[in-house]
Amino acid sequence: VTVVALVPAAGRGERLGAGRPKALVPVRGEPLLTHAVRGLLSSGSVDHVVVAAPPAEVEGVADLLRPLGPAVHVVAGGAERTDSVALALDAALGVAPDAGIVLVHDAARAFTPPSVVREVVDAVARGASAVVPVLPVADTVKQVDADGRVVGTPDRSALRAVQTPQGFTVDLLRRAHAAAEGAATDDAGLVERLGEPVATVPGHPHAMKITTPFDLAVAEAVLAGPAA
Ligand code: C5P
Repeated sequence: VTVVALVPAAGRGERLGAGRPKALVPVRGEPLLTHAVRGLLSSGSVDHVVVAAPPAEVEGVADLLRPLGPAVHVVAGGAERTDSVALALDAALGVAPDAGIVLVHDAARAFTPPSVVREVVDAVARGASAVVPVLPVADTVKQVDADGRVVGTPDRSALRAVQTPQGFTVDLLRRAHAAAEGAATDDAGLVERLGEPVATVPGHPHAMKITTPFDLAVAEAVLAGPAA
């Protein structure tokens, strides 16, 4: 079965404050996006990668990723992450009309171990229509109202932090995006709105999302491996 991975990388990265799109911020000399795409390809489970780049950066991102080979394609992203994923999905179906499994992976999770990518693909191949990698939550999580007052404490043992890549059958992700009204923070959320089940596999601490300067420091220090 043909597997395509979509990489929304069109965010502005304002919380990182690096003055450029987050996907293009370098760690150990290479942009986060390069690390992310290389990790997908080195899993051995992904046939094509479609990157949604900031619209003004499509040419530059294509140049950047060309050394990774012909399996990598770059299109312009959209205003919200959900739009970027939908645009990449359309492009992926042009590139690989026979695709049966689609992954959606954030460029910001640049150091996701290839073993996690393989586990997600394998879970879909074994019959799950939607799969997300998850980790237990270390912090107790409170629900608050608009004024910041605590209204509840969900049982922590039933909570999971969700990572990417998230894996889907192509048919299910297409249906989820076709039905999407408004943006979602993740694609599995759109599948849940359809009432379809979402399975989990174990995530990995190295699949953390790089959002803040602190996260970037962690990536430099730990995730990118020994300095060259
Ligand atoms: O902002 P956040 O870290 O949640 O973004 C998650 C991923 O979605 C990032 O890789 C970002 O580049 C991407 N994104 C996108 N298009 C947007 C907004 C975010 O591809 N309009």
